[in-house]
Parts: sequence; structure tokens; C-alpha cells
Amino acid sequence: MQPEDKGRVAVVGAGLMGHGIALQFALGGREVWLNDLTEEALRRAAANIRTSLGMLQTVGLVGSDAAERAMDRIHTESSLDKAVSGAGLVIEAVFEDLSLKRGVFKQLDAISAGSSILASNTSSFMTSQLAPGTKRPDKIVVANWWNPPYLLPLVEVVPGPETAGQTVDTLCGILSAIGKSPVVLRKESLGFIGNRMQFALLREAVSIVEQGIASAEDVDTVVKTSFGRRLSVAGPLEVFDVAGWDTITAIVDQLFPEIDRSARTPDVLREMVDRGDLGLKSGKGFYSWTEESAASVRQRIARALATLEGLSRGDA
Ligand SMILES: NC(=O)c1ccc[n+]([C@@H]2O[C@H](COP(=O)([O-])OP(=O)(O)OC[C@H]3O[C@@H](n4cnc5c(N)ncnc54)[C@H](O)[C@@H]3O)[C@@H](O)[C@H]2O)c1
Repeated sequence: MQPEDKGRVAVVGAGLMGHGIALQFALGGREVWLNDLTEEALRRAAANIRTSLGMLQTVGLVGSDAAERAMDRIHTESSLDKAVSGAGLVIEAVFEDLSLKRGVFKQLDAISAGSSILASNTSSFMTSQLAPGTKRPDKIVVANWWNPPYLLPLVEVVPGPETAGQTVDTLCGILSAIGKSPVVLRKESLGFIGNRMQFALLREAVSIVEQGIASAEDVDTVVKTSFGRRLSVAGPLEVFDVAGWDTITAIVDQLFPEIDRSARTPDVLREMVDRGDLGLKSGKGFYSWTEESAASVRQRIARALATLEGLSRGDA
């Protein structure tokens, strides 16, 4: 176990999120060690990083010199010991499986410098569920990034009851320095802030389709052509402050009893999963997917997010 190097970051799990998080740290000037179980997974991650960098260059967010320097700062390493050796910050981004994550945290606790911060990119688990079994609950924290990590600024930082204030301050300082916008929760909550709201919207969207009120395409069109656009520049509480709460509470009186409050996973989703209609990855979900339409939607989302990122940098 080497003493920590404050500048050095390790990312454990090099999948969709891990490769993007590593890229964001590298773009921010940090040396990053990226770990996964196999050399094959690491080769795939390196290829994904090159593709993501290519897209950032195409949209003008990253120059070719900066892209090359970022690539040079990312080191792939299949030995966990070597990957985390000397890292002041370790980000865990393995599958969303609590016992797997607990095992990884236990291992990280045993092999990383005692002063290192161990952060989890979990989408739903709480810090207090991950810390048991480690000797440093004061240095364990959730840091939930959004996909793609190099284009969406938010990182939700969720301290557990035993997480030290110093851990949160240090982590937020590191994240801000690489251009992220950390938001610290005042207390732990399942799903944090973003996923609670995103999944409340999902419940209603599925319910509208299930009740036959509208097609999946029309539900998506409504969001994309109305409040979805507005939400990227003003939050819901800001928007309704502008609208006026007398009007809004009159609408709430009518709508809250009507909209879906079910605590169960909707039948339509269960049936889709049972049929193997998993969405883009299986070729069918609410939409039918081909390789071309999958590439096209990914590109459309990435380009629009890059444009927004460019605009917000221009504002700064
Ligand atoms: N996908 C998203 O949009 C998103 C957004 C925010 C947070 N998250 C969270 O990020 C985490 C990773 O999600 P993802 O979408 O990148 O998953 P993914 O399946 O793309 O990647 C997970 C990677 O972890 C690796 N892995 C598994 N066990 C490992 C171990 N013991 N050591 C090292 N590597 C290991 C796998 O080989 C795989 O490459 C999850 O907790 C997920 O909930 C995902």
C-alpha cells in the first residue's frame, strides 16, 4: 500500500460509466488508473474513450492536443492492487449489485491508502449500505454521476451518517476543479434527487401508455417539445414560482388524485422484460431498434448535450 497521491484517481469498473468518468478526470488534468476484471474489458473501454473523445472533438468541445493529452493520462490496469495504489480518490463503478459493491469496498478498504476517499457511482444504494465491513466509514461516500459523465455536469454527493464533512468538502473540491457541478444531499435518500424525479416521470409516462391515453412516441414528443426543453434551463420549482402557486395549487388539486401513485412495477414493463424486449440492447422496447437507429439516437443525444455544454461554457 503506497501513500496517497492527491492528484491520482482510480476508477474501478470500466463500463459505460467508468470509462466516461475516467475520461472526465483525464480531461480535467488528472492521472487516472482504470480497472476492470479482464484485459478485454479494458481494451473495450479504451476504444470507447477514443470514440467519446472523437465525438467531443467533432462538436468542438475538445481540441486535438487536449484529446491526446487526456488519452495519455488514462492508464488501464487489470490488477486492482496496482490500479488503486497511491490513489487519493477511488471511484467504484461496477454493476449495480449491492453484495458485489460491498465486496469491492471491503477489498478497496484493505488495499488502498488509509487516507484515500472511496466513492461509489451507485444509482440507488445509500452510503450507509456500502460502508459496513470497512474500517473507514468516514471516507466512504456516494458520488452519482450522470451519463455521459463528460457531458452532464451533475454529480450527486450523498454522505452517510458516518461520512466526515472533510470527505465531502475534499470530493466536491476535486469535482468542481474538473468542471463538474456537485450537489450535496442533506440526508441519505434512495434514488437521491435526480432518480427520484426521473422515475416519478417514468411511472406517469408508462401509465399514460398503459391506459391508452397516448402512444409511447406521442408521450416522448410531448416531453421533447415542451417542458423537457424548459427543464434544461430552469428547474421545476423555479418554473412554477414563475407561473404562480395559486394557479399551480389549483391544478395540483385536480391532478394529484388522477396521476399514478402505484408502488408496483407496471405490468407492461414486467411483460416486456419477460418477453425479452429490453429496449435498444435487444432490438425492441417501446420502439424497434436497428443498428442505424441506435447509432442515430446516441449521436442525437450526444450532439444536443454537447451543444448545451458549449452554451453553458459560453455563459460562464
Ligand atoms: N448507466 C447509467 O446511465 C448510469 C448512470 C449513473 C450511475 N450508474 C451506475 O454506475 C455503475 C456502473 O454502471 P454501468 O452502466 O457503467 O455498468 P456497465 O455494465 O457498463 O459496467 C460495469 C463494469 O464493471 C465491471 N466489473 C464488474 N465487477 C467488477 C469488479 N469486481 N472489479 C472491477 N470491475 C468490475 C464489469 O466488467 C463492467 O465492465 C452502476 O452502479 C450503475 O448503477 C449508471
